[in-house]
Amino acid sequence: PPIDEIINLHDFEAVAKKVLPAKAWAYYSSASDDEITIRENRAAFQRVWFRPRILRDVSVVDWSHTILGCKSSFPVYISATALGKLGHPDGELNLTRAAGKHNVIQMIPTLASCSFDEIIDAALPGQPLFVQLYVNRDREITKKYVQHAEKRGVKALFITVDAPQLGRREKDMRMKAVDDNGTAKVQDGQSDVRRDQGVSRAISSFIDPSLSWKDIPWFRSITNMHIILKGVSTPEDAILAYESGCQGIVLSNHGGRQLDTARSGLENLIDIVAALKTKGPWPNPNFSIFVDGGVRRASDVLKALALGASAVGIGRGFLYAFCSYGQEGVERSFQILREEFEMNMRLLGARSISELKPEMVDASALSAH
Ligand code: FNR
Repeated sequence: PPIDEIINLHDFEAVAKKVLPAKAWAYYSSASDDEITIRENRAAFQRVWFRPRILRDVSVVDWSHTILGCKSSFPVYISATALGKLGHPDGELNLTRAAGKHNVIQMIPTLASCSFDEIIDAALPGQPLFVQLYVNRDREITKKYVQHAEKRGVKALFITVDAPQLGRREKDMRMKAVDDNGTAKVQDGQSDVRRDQGVSRAISSFIDPSLSWKDIPWFRSITNMHIILKGVSTPEDAILAYESGCQGIVLSNHGGRQLDTARSGLENLIDIVAALKTKGPWPNPNFSIFVDGGVRRASDVLKALALGASAVGIGRGFLYAFCSYGQEGVERSFQILREEFEMNMRLLGARSISELKPEMVDASALSAH
C-alpha cells in the first residue's frame, strides 16, 4: 500500500510479512521455543491502565527527552537488530539517515550488515549513536571494536548479556541459512559456522558464553563510554549491575528471542525500580533503566516512563518500517510516534516527560503486585 495508508507501527509488520523473502521474515519475526515471551511482551502493556488527569491546560505538550546525556526527539531509541540487509539493500543505513534527520538515537548492532564505519559515515556530524556489543571469545577483537567505536564518537556501549547462546528460533531453524543475501558476510571472525540451523546459528558462534561479572571492570578499563547491560531481568542482577559501576541496564528479553517464558521487561520494571531506590536517591542521574520488548505505541512508552523507565527501545517496529519502505518508512514511523505522543500526553494530562508519574497508571494487574 502507499505509505500514507500506514497509520500505526503494526501496519509495517503486515507489509513486511508480505514483501520480505521467507527467510528474512522467519529470521526477523521469530522468537524462541513456543514464542510465549514475545506474546507476553505485548500483553504486559495491555495490562497497564491509564489514570488520566484533566483540566491541566495541555495546549502545549513536549515529548522531547534526553537519553544518556544525548538529546532525542522522544524517549525512544532504535534498538539493535542484526542483519538489516536481509530486509532492504540499504540495511541499517535506513535507520541512520532517518535518525539523523529527526534526532533519534540508533544503537548499532555488532552484527550489522553494513560495516560499522559505513554506518558512522552515514551519520550527520554530531549525531548521537550507541553501539551494541556481542563479546567475542577473542577479547582483542572486542577491545579493538569498542575502542574504535569510542574513537568514532559513539556515546554508549550496550553489552548484550542475555545471549551466552542464541535461543532456538524454530521458524528460523526451519530455513536453511544458505549463503546468499549477505547472510554469512558478517565481519566478526566466526569460525565453525553451521549453515544448517538457520540464520541465527550461522552468525553467532563467536559469542563468548564464559562472559561473567568479572569482565565488567575490564570493560571499564578499556573505555570511557557509558556501559549499559542489555538483557537484565531481576532486581538481584540490577543491583549487581549498579554496584559493578555500570551506568544503566536494559530490562529486555531480546524481543522474546532468548529464554522463552522469561517475563517481559515491563513486568520486571516495578520490582527493579523498587530495588534500586534502596541504593540511593531516585531517579538517579548516574544510572538509567531502559525497557524494550513489544513497544509499538507512544502509549506503551508513556506507561514504561510513568513506572520509572528512563527511555524505551524499539526493535522490530523500526526494522519492519525500513523493510517495507526504506528510509521513508522509518521517517513515517517517527511521524506516527510523534502524533501519538501529542495526543496521548494531552489525554493523559502530562505536558512534559517529567510530568509522567506512577499515579498516572494502574499497574495492579502486573504480577509484581
Ligand atoms: C534483535 N535483538 C538484538 N539484540 C542484541 O542485543 N543484538 C542483536 O544482534 C539483536 N538482533 C536482533 C535481531 C532481530 C531480528 C530482532 C527482532 C531483535 C533484540 C533487540 O535489540 C530488542 O531487544 C528487541 O527487538 C525488542 O523487542 P521488539 O521491539 O522487537 O518487540
